[in-house]
Amino acid sequence: MSGTAILSALAQEQQGLIAQLDNPRQLVRAGRDFWLGRLHGQEVVLACSRIGKVAAATTATSLIEGFGVERIVFTGVAGGLGQAVQVGDLVVATRFVQHDMDASPLFARFEVPLYGRSEFACDAALSALLVDAGQFALGTLDSAARTAATTPVLHQGLIASGDCFVSSAAAGEALKRTLLGVGLEALAVEMEGAAVAQVCHDYGIPFAAIRSISDRSDDTARGDFEHFVAHVASHYARAIVDHLMRALALRAAARH
Ligand code: ADE
Repeated sequence: MSGTAILSALAQEQQGLIAQLDNPRQLVRAGRDFWLGRLHGQEVVLACSRIGKVAAATTATSLIEGFGVERIVFTGVAGGLGQAVQVGDLVVATRFVQHDMDASPLFARFEVPLYGRSEFACDAALSALLVDAGQFALGTLDSAARTAATTPVLHQGLIASGDCFVSSAAAGEALKRTLLGVGLEALAVEMEGAAVAQVCHDYGIPFAAIRSISDRSDDTARGDFEHFVAHVASHYARAIVDHLMRALALRAAARH
């Protein structure tokens, strides 16, 4: 098939999306459920990677090799790192870095060996559609879905991925400082995006990602994350995916 893959780490981050599929079909590959169907007339595959870079890379590779998707969009949660990035905000990634990549002294800190780079860029056109979708989602959230005292806003910038859940203010600050040391200002941290970005780079297919901020990567991160994933994340995902697929349908119609 062709079409768009909607990828998340956890099932809770996609809750309700399967029910919206037209003509849903379930397939199991590599121990994962893949849901095929249509949204706004467009072919989609919904998948959950589970947590971490290897799980995400396996799932992205399956989506491309096994399902022939044309593009991958990641929607899920992240911990805020940037000062202005608060719980309930959205971050559309412009690029990704693996914050736990360190093959020094063979390669520069954060550089992915033999790629000659430490960052992988997201597709600009697909990311622009996610910015529109994110703004739409922020406008549709009812008060039950809002957790922040402030009005949630959308940011765009660098997201850092690594195989650790950042659950103390000290760890969050250290991560920020280390990245800033090489001029990288990360807005948020999560555990999958950079791996999917690298796989999509390898296959030459567009990738974009939007993350809602579940916690501030600090001492209350665990509780904040669990609450947000259980009660808020899927509200964002449903609105974002609905708006995105409508936009992709309009784009496809304009091309015919
Ligand atoms: N995803 C959501 N919150 C996170 C955190 N604090 N660290 C890593 N990944 C996350």
